[in-house]
Amino acid sequence: MTPLLPVAFLLLLCLSGSPPAAATAGDPTPTPTPWPPQFHAKLVMDFHGNLSVADLWYDWPGGRNLHITRYQLAADAPFYDNEWNNGTSFFYTPSRRACRSAAVGVGILRPDWLSPGAVYLGRQDADGFDCHVWAKADFITYYEDVNTKRPVKWVFYTGKRLPSPTPLLF
Ligand SMILES: *[C@@H]1O[C@H](CO)[C@@H](O)[C@H](O)[C@H]1NC(C)=O
Ligand SMILES: *[C@@H]1O[C@H](CO)[C@@H](O)[C@H](O)[C@H]1NC(C)=O
Repeated sequence: MTPLLPVAFLLLLCLSGSPPAAATAGDPTPTPTPWPPQFHAKLVMDFHGNLSVADLWYDWPGGRNLHITRYQLAADAPFYDNEWNNGTSFFYTPSRRACRSAAVGVGILRPDWLSPGAVYLGRQDADGFDCHVWAKADFITYYEDVNTKRPVKWVFYTGKRLPSPTPLLF
């Protein structure tokens, strides 16, 4: 059995680009809006009750992705996760001068990563936002605001092949 995993990300996006275009009127089955090629988002994360807030800088043209995460119980030590499209990631905690790299083997998510294989589940309220919801099997449930087309929340499912939320994400 795949353990279900309460890694929920509440996204409050501060997009650096212009907002995505509205969906085509009359489209019977909504499709996920691709991410802007570059953006900054603030994420509230819940990993099995371990709460953190993170800044995410997504940079598709630059082939890189940076998370700076502050855990609730370690607010003085932000943790950096710097992922490159060549499959190398760097994890560091400047306050402790700790750093390591890892060959993650995959690059960052494409802006349209959700579309292939996403199944539309209909509309649901998420944190007070009216959302379109899609799922990708064994991977993610994704909530997108109907009006603004921005992501509101996503929930990852961890399988044995998926060690932690960040490599999935970006
Ligand atoms: C939980 O939070 C602590 C910081 O309070 C962090 O060091 C640790 O890696 C987190 N554990 C998991 C499983 O995310
Ligand atoms: C990937 O890119 C980063 C940043 O340029 C670099 O530090 C790292 O060595 C590269 N990894 C590989 C496997 O080429």
